[in-house]
Amino acid sequence: MKRTFTGLVVLVFLSGCQDATSEVAESPEPTMTVMELMVTVMAPATDTLWGIDDPQTDADWQVFVDAANVVILAGETIKAGGTGPNDNKWASDAAWDAFADTLIGAAIDAREAANNKDIEAMYTAGEVLYPPCEECHIQFNPGVQ
Ligand code: HEC
Repeated sequence: MKRTFTGLVVLVFLSGCQDATSEVAESPEPTMTVMELMVTVMAPATDTLWGIDDPQTDADWQVFVDAANVVILAGETIKAGGTGPNDNKWASDAAWDAFADTLIGAAIDAREAANNKDIEAMYTAGEVLYPPCEECHIQFNPGVQ
């Protein structure tokens, strides 16, 4: 009886571990709509990146590193869908992922540029960052500006 019980505990423990590892590989469950994420996270962070104006100090540049990280995270988050009525349908389209990946790539370049304090590279990354916004809006929600 005791042995069976111990076996059961080990089994439960092991399956618990398995759950924990598989959760790391999966995307987290969405907790907000794509619209909320766009308005409260994506737009302010990209406004910061596009508004770059003669940064001087480490702290000035850090603002752009931080904003780029927010855009990267927002891009990864929308790939997992959202809680809005159409979000998961949109996110299951290959084109959605492709737009998000272009955006994430540009934001990674922007972060590198900010880390290198390279203003020209910041402008270039900023230009690459814009088309996926517009193209994704046109394809999935033409009413959006
Ligand atoms: C992968 C697709 C996708 C990408 C990339 C994307 N968006 Fe969006 N965005 C959407 C969708 C879809 C909506 C509308 C959501 C809805 O109607 O529920 C939206 C809505 C918005 C809104 C709200 C507009 C309104 O009418 O109130 C803003 C602002 C916005 N996006 C900014 C951006 C910016 C800035 C970027 C690029 C840096 C960007 N988005 C990139 C899909 C995307």
